[in-house]
Amino acid sequence: MDLLEFQARDLFESFGVPVLPGLVASTPREAREAYERLGTQVAVVKAQVRVGGRGKAGGVKLARSADEVEQVASEILGLDIKGHVVEQVMLSPGADIAEEYYFSILLDRANGSYLAMCSTEGGMDIEQLAVERPEALVKLPLHPVEGVTAEVAAEIVEKSGFPEGDRAAVGAVLEKLWVAFRNSDATLVEVNPLVKTGSGQVLALDGKVTLDANASFRHPGWDAYEASSGDVDLERQAKELDLNYVKLDGSVGIIGNGAGLVMSTLDVVAGAGKDLPGSPRPANFLDIGGGASSTVMANGLRIIMSDPQVKSVFVNVFGGITACNDVAHGIVTALEVLGDEAKLPIVVRLDGNAVEVGKAILEEANHPLITVESTMDGAASAAAKLASERN
Ligand SMILES: Nc1ncnc2c1ncn2[C@@H]1O[C@H](COP(=O)(O)OP(=O)(O)OP(=O)(O)O)[C@@H](O)[C@H]1O
Ligand SMILES: [Mg+2]
Repeated sequence: MDLLEFQARDLFESFGVPVLPGLVASTPREAREAYERLGTQVAVVKAQVRVGGRGKAGGVKLARSADEVEQVASEILGLDIKGHVVEQVMLSPGADIAEEYYFSILLDRANGSYLAMCSTEGGMDIEQLAVERPEALVKLPLHPVEGVTAEVAAEIVEKSGFPEGDRAAVGAVLEKLWVAFRNSDATLVEVNPLVKTGSGQVLALDGKVTLDANASFRHPGWDAYEASSGDVDLERQAKELDLNYVKLDGSVGIIGNGAGLVMSTLDVVAGAGKDLPGSPRPANFLDIGGGASSTVMANGLRIIMSDPQVKSVFVNVFGGITACNDVAHGIVTALEVLGDEAKLPIVVRLDGNAVEVGKAILEEANHPLITVESTMDGAASAAAKLASERN
């Protein structure tokens, strides 16, 4: 679950990480009011979207008067940043930046540990720095329990080459960021830039935080984040319907039974789409598990088809305890329930228990959206091809 910058800012503040005040506005008028409440001369107006590169996309601007704030806010609100439309801006006082640093802690899945990354050359070009001069980005695996202790913080700032006079102040902030990371069950905390001001204060001027949604049961406060998380709207709806759904960014919707089968379906679809125009990829993971009732199928199809990126759907079922005739029935009834809501072509591959009866049910229904394929490869190719053609 990705937080917006102002939510990350609030979270940092609650852990004692030094941040600037931040006020949120959804209209230019509100932005003006926020500016007046800040009571600073220079303010920065920042797009609140869950995507990086806001500054370069014109989503971060300075303003020096109430009129200018209103003007700048009207430019940023409604801006489309990599497919994310700006609905809110955050206003903060302009900082007197002397140095920009980079610091992050993340869950490094490949190495099965937490990883801290730090650089004295932070700011908007950190991605470029990581590629061109990887040695300027210090990486240190963290002990999962100890994390960033005072000793580890000292090691990070020393290895990163901070001048001796700045090490203590920066190190203290790194320790606090670790506590924020650990205590909020985060998988990512990134601060870019972490700055030193003209007066020597260290401040987190930007924050990216990803929380591990599996821990939401022990953070009642996260409901507010979930409610506002526009991007993962489909995941939230799916969760309410008890569906095991993960949104991905491709165009072939996937429904299967059993996590293993669904995982391999994702691979086969990605393989089938690789050489087609637009390289269609899987749009989601959805495991309907053992109970392929028409309700579960209808809920699954509804979620998948309400993803605007989806162009075709692949239903891949291996009948076991849930026999294929139940699944076929589920699909046909689901389409009746959905009526006009169902608009996308559906490729179905059934195998296993009662496959012949299942196929007969689909054949008899003769639904214009359904194509039946007899192999997983054939069905994946058909679904990928449909998505490619409809792109
Ligand atoms: N309060 C502030 N005062 C002055 N300058 C600021 C302030 N906040 C940000 N900036 C400047 O704007 C730049 C970009 O801001 P920020 O890091 O928040 O966005 P970004 O990095 O472009 O976006 P993203 O993090 O989405 O890639 C910063 O590197 C910093 O130089
Ligand atoms: Mg940034």
